[in-house]
Amino acid sequence: MKKDLLTLRDITRDDLETIFDLARKFKRDRATCPDKPLAGKSIGLIFAKSSTRTRVSFEVGVGELGGRALYLDQSKMQMGRGETVSDTAQVLSRFLQGIVIRTFAHRDVEELAQCASIPVINALTDEYHPCQILADMLTICEYSGRCDSSVKTVFYGDGRSNIANSLILAARLTGMELVISSPAEEAPRTDLAGNAPNVRWEADPVAAARDADYFYTDVWVSMGFEEERERRMRIFRPYQVNEKLFTVAKKNAKFLHCLPAHRGEEVSAGVMDDPARSIVFDEAENRLHVQKAVMSLLMR
Ligand code: CP
Ligand code: NVA
Repeated sequence: MKKDLLTLRDITRDDLETIFDLARKFKRDRATCPDKPLAGKSIGLIFAKSSTRTRVSFEVGVGELGGRALYLDQSKMQMGRGETVSDTAQVLSRFLQGIVIRTFAHRDVEELAQCASIPVINALTDEYHPCQILADMLTICEYSGRCDSSVKTVFYGDGRSNIANSLILAARLTGMELVISSPAEEAPRTDLAGNAPNVRWEADPVAAARDADYFYTDVWVSMGFEEERERRMRIFRPYQVNEKLFTVAKKNAKFLHCLPAHRGEEVSAGVMDDPARSIVFDEAENRLHVQKAVMSLLMR
């Protein structure tokens, strides 16, 4: 594997299998946690944005692997007062054995990784959220037995969100059929899919839903985009995941959401809270297992 995990471009199909095998092992052995690959190691968790799942799963995960997690609020670091990313990276490399970072500009995470001698994991930027999508793919494997061209996932809403962008990279990695259904003004970036035949954009939400195995959505107003709230609520409205879409999907189609969810906006309460359809909490739990796998591969 490469030194860092900044986007899913950093891993190969083989790496993905290695991560999933290890994640399954950590999930199975969680009660005893026999492996302590981070024993004696300190991992810094830099957060410039809010978080529930990512922060808790990384903090708990580092602890379960025998290491110590340091939560670092970016606004309270000198980086929040103008210290350069490069100086921060070099200093932290003298203290820590790994950095996990959630921030705004993806460029900052690239620079941090470039200047740090220790591994850096992207815990969400405006552009990508690789750890989330690894957990999502593991969840799909658990429910479908595989995550490949036999699986069709339809993503609704913000076709340019960090989640949509990372899903496109995941589809390229796995061969999974991915349809992004969004309004034209937030249609997916064309540079991410390249010529991949298994990724397409579909403006009509019902046409997109046909024979889907999974529906996936994300908030309409991502962190950092609050000023666009009014426009986003208007343009994404036709892309809500609701009961109607399930009538044209496969019989046992499931619902995925990175969370936090907004019932009545990107998903109806009926779908979000339907135990026969919604697998969002299994998906959230898998964050812990895949991130432990990634950390143990990169930071041991
Ligand atoms: N899905 C996700 O990353 O959740 P948090 O923002 O709570 O970390
Ligand atoms: N697109 C969302 C994901 C939250 C996990 C955001 O960036 O706010």
